[in-house]
Amino acid sequence: MSDRVIGVIGGSGLYAIDALEGATWTTLTTPWGDPSDAILVGELEGTKMAFLPRHGRGHVHAPSDVPYRANIDALKQLGVTDILSVSACGSFRDEMAPGDFVLCDQMIDRTRGRTSSFFSSGCVAHVSLAHPTCDRLRSAALGAAQGLGITVHNGGTYLAMEGPQFSTLAESRMYREVWAADVIGMTNMPEAKLAREAEICYLTVAMVTDYDSWHPDHGEVDINQLLATLGANVAHGAALVAAMPAALNGPREACPQGCDSALQFAIMTAPEK
Ligand code: ADE
Repeated sequence: MSDRVIGVIGGSGLYAIDALEGATWTTLTTPWGDPSDAILVGELEGTKMAFLPRHGRGHVHAPSDVPYRANIDALKQLGVTDILSVSACGSFRDEMAPGDFVLCDQMIDRTRGRTSSFFSSGCVAHVSLAHPTCDRLRSAALGAAQGLGITVHNGGTYLAMEGPQFSTLAESRMYREVWAADVIGMTNMPEAKLAREAEICYLTVAMVTDYDSWHPDHGEVDINQLLATLGANVAHGAALVAAMPAALNGPREACPQGCDSALQFAIMTAPEK
């Protein structure tokens, strides 16, 4: 059995991984409350995997109400070393078309009022977030996606918005033209920040479902169109997840980027006694 444990946080449309062997839904609790749902824990090709539906089965948690800290803590309790976040997104680029996947390497956080750290008064830490996703995980996912024939873009900037409403046309244009974002979603922040604080490698796999509202030929986001594209995307998402144990093959070395040692130089005060 590999010492790597792959966690998958599935966004809208991805509520289980059928390929897992010996899978059981495991209920956990954390000091931060309950995670979004039970976690499906199983094995694939000698690698332990843990799947968490971010919105809960039945889609019960809105993006603003997802228990992000409990989710990351629960995955950490299960020994997760690498998280793949497979999430539906809008696109700001013609070439990042609905149905494509974007492996994001940058993020802009426009969320408001979500608790975005495990550290507060009594124990303060400032982790580096210059590179919020893991390059090693991105290269592995890139190879796996290409092998599956998925149209995949290597790198891109993910803008996390609060939602649940979609963006106005002015916002959409600003994110695209001024802020140079490539895709937009409602959930990967503060998730990526918390994963870094928990010293877990993290990658956003954006499954493009729409062109948000900026595109002159596509108009505003049409939820029926979005759901139809999502339905087609989910099979690719599940196949990519199932290909990850092979893609990350071999013993787990320390993360070259330091995702798994992020706290080494980050703790500013000791916890209160
Ligand atoms: N998820 C899917 N499409 C989206 C969009 N256009 N904006 C925000 N989140 C999304």
